[in-house]
Amino acid sequence: MSGLFISFEGIDGAGKSTHIAALAQAFEAQGRAVTLTREPGGTPLAEALRALVLHEAMDPLTETLLVFAARRDHITRVIAPALAQGRVVVCDRFSDATFAYQGGGRDFDWDVLRVLENWVQARDQIASAVEPGPDVLQPDLTLWFDLPAAVAAQRLVGARVPDRFEAQPSGFFEKVSAGYARRCAQSPSRFARIEAHMSAESVWQQVLASVRAKGWLS
Ligand code: TMP
Repeated sequence: MSGLFISFEGIDGAGKSTHIAALAQAFEAQGRAVTLTREPGGTPLAEALRALVLHEAMDPLTETLLVFAARRDHITRVIAPALAQGRVVVCDRFSDATFAYQGGGRDFDWDVLRVLENWVQARDQIASAVEPGPDVLQPDLTLWFDLPAAVAAQRLVGARVPDRFEAQPSGFFEKVSAGYARRCAQSPSRFARIEAHMSAESVWQQVLASVRAKGWLS
């Protein structure tokens, strides 16, 4: 069985978490081995980088290099080996988040992000990438939880002590959303846009429908 790579994306407060866990369970219930992971993170080194990115002040280039360094470690140690074993990799964020947050939110140069992505995700530089596929490793499906920044902000009120991103004003998240929209427009067949302002049940039905449309869940 060939591996599947599914990412979840969206601004902070979009409500991805419960659906990520539920999708992993749905695949397991159908007999698939699942690797549930997240970015930045997913390995000890990448989790250490995550703590820095989320809590230490730094400029946008430093931030960008750290998220890509974390991604490189995550790909080589976790994602590519899991895909090579035919597992379903369900990942909370991947490189679309870098385009949205650093490219959109922080106004970091989109073309530089593309260069970094082409390096970090180059299939011929990943030892265990035995699967045929495009030159640059990307998810097979990206579920983009889209909702107005004001609704997301409302959901986050009082939720927990905010990190460096959650503490940003709603104008930042509008720019992040615009970054996701741009990325979606560049790869429309990879993206499924989920209307994340709706009820949890409706959102789950949209998630299931998007995965079923690919023929991956019955
Ligand atoms: P989360 O996993 O709790 O959503 O937190 C991760 C935060 O890191 C989130 O605010 C988005 C941000 N982020 C980036 O800025 N760039 C990235 O490439 C990734 C993966 C996440």
